[in-house]
Amino acid sequence: MPIIVNGLPRSIPEDPRMSLLDLLREGLHLSGTKKGCNQGACGACTVLVDGERILSCLALAVQYDGRRVTTIEGLVQGDALHPLQQAFIDHDGFQCGYCTPGQICSAIGMAAEAERGVPSHISADLAADRVALTREEIQERMSGNLCRCGAYNGIVDAIAGTVGAEMAA
Ligand code: FES
Ligand code: FES
Repeated sequence: MPIIVNGLPRSIPEDPRMSLLDLLREGLHLSGTKKGCNQGACGACTVLVDGERILSCLALAVQYDGRRVTTIEGLVQGDALHPLQQAFIDHDGFQCGYCTPGQICSAIGMAAEAERGVPSHISADLAADRVALTREEIQERMSGNLCRCGAYNGIVDAIAGTVGAEMAA
């Protein structure tokens, strides 16, 4: 069974040691997903698998046989940017941009987690059906995505103004 990347079926690599990140970047030339630390510490390589955020540097591509992978390239809607991509521009949520694809994919997965009531370390109600995305919740839930440029205020503003606003509705 192929791996589905941004809606297209792709062959899994012959080498079972290849990470999902290397398949995306080296095999499929989808360079939007970034390699930062390559050891699970920075979040730059975050992609969505069946809607859940994962670190693609820690994932073997062969594990994702038959799964649906979405990268930053797969978020555009026709010629239009995803609302979160636009929000990062509007709120100056980046400087060099290296962490940005991971930040955006992570934020989308993070919002889905909050929507289904997955608590964070700071959530007061562990049994809530849905967690409102306050700035504090966003900061906590996005803490695995580092930004060496320190654009955190803009990043949180962008997320709070899009997926956070939807969650508050
Ligand atoms: Fe994957 Fe840093 S490159 S977490
Ligand atoms: Fe440069 Fe985040 S914008 S690392």
